[in-house]
Amino acid sequence: MMTPEQTLSAQLRHLAIIMDGNGRWAQQRGLPRLAGHQQGAEAVIRTVDECLRLGVRYLTLFAFSSENWGRPEHEVATLMELLLKFLSSQRTKMLENGVQLRVIGDRERLSDAVQKALYEGEKQTETGDRLTLTLALSYGGRNEIVRAVRTLATKVADGFLTPEQIDGALLEANLDTHGMPSPDLLIRTSGEMRISNFLLWQLAYAELYFTDTLWPDFGRDEIQRATDVFQMRQRRFGLTEEQLTTKKNAHPEEKSH
Ligand code: FPP
Repeated sequence: MMTPEQTLSAQLRHLAIIMDGNGRWAQQRGLPRLAGHQQGAEAVIRTVDECLRLGVRYLTLFAFSSENWGRPEHEVATLMELLLKFLSSQRTKMLENGVQLRVIGDRERLSDAVQKALYEGEKQTETGDRLTLTLALSYGGRNEIVRAVRTLATKVADGFLTPEQIDGALLEANLDTHGMPSPDLLIRTSGEMRISNFLLWQLAYAELYFTDTLWPDFGRDEIQRATDVFQMRQRRFGLTEEQLTTKKNAHPEEKSH
């Protein structure tokens, strides 16, 4: 007999989250936005713990979008400081728990200090095999696809690739998320119902779950609600119900591109 956690982890390999509502959480309490981001970092820690408990193998968090560069300078600085603090305070725990850190996004735009801390974090945790924690930083889905296309176009121009060899699998292999399964479930907090340029390619078949809960209040209860809803949904990947029941036990990740 499989435990409920084992059943869930077979279906939910990759959870992606758009963490939204830190500012509103602070505003509701008459606090500076910084307080919302600080509590948001605590919610990140709770979420990582819960994914480890549930056996989810990949957790991808939208921590800073390409558009977030347009926020006031001091808020950008605050978010970067919180990130550095998170990396240093969580290092030992990540190593003990088999968490592998990974970063996606246009990292060249990040400061040298942040880039260095991220490379070190990735290097130190590279053997972690329980949970891959991916932070999307300076990330935009369109930009990620453009960078992948540019890499492939360069290979074609240099004669290492023909246009006919380009297919979905090759494009996917050139995205920042190469080697990861696509997200099974996307959660967005704070009541907004948009994808906001997050993992545009990878979310093609993800189940979407939106909650009014603001990110700083996110935790175990909310994950439980989201995974309950996820398990009630039937993922068909464009196939018929009949086709799916014949391959019931396999993870139904589509291979259609
Ligand atoms: C959205 O809230 C959240 C962000 C732009 C940043 C997310 C950052 C954290 C959770 C904290 C630090 C991250 C890590 C990985 C430790 P918002 O500011 O857009 O909220 P609002 O829409 O209510 O203004």
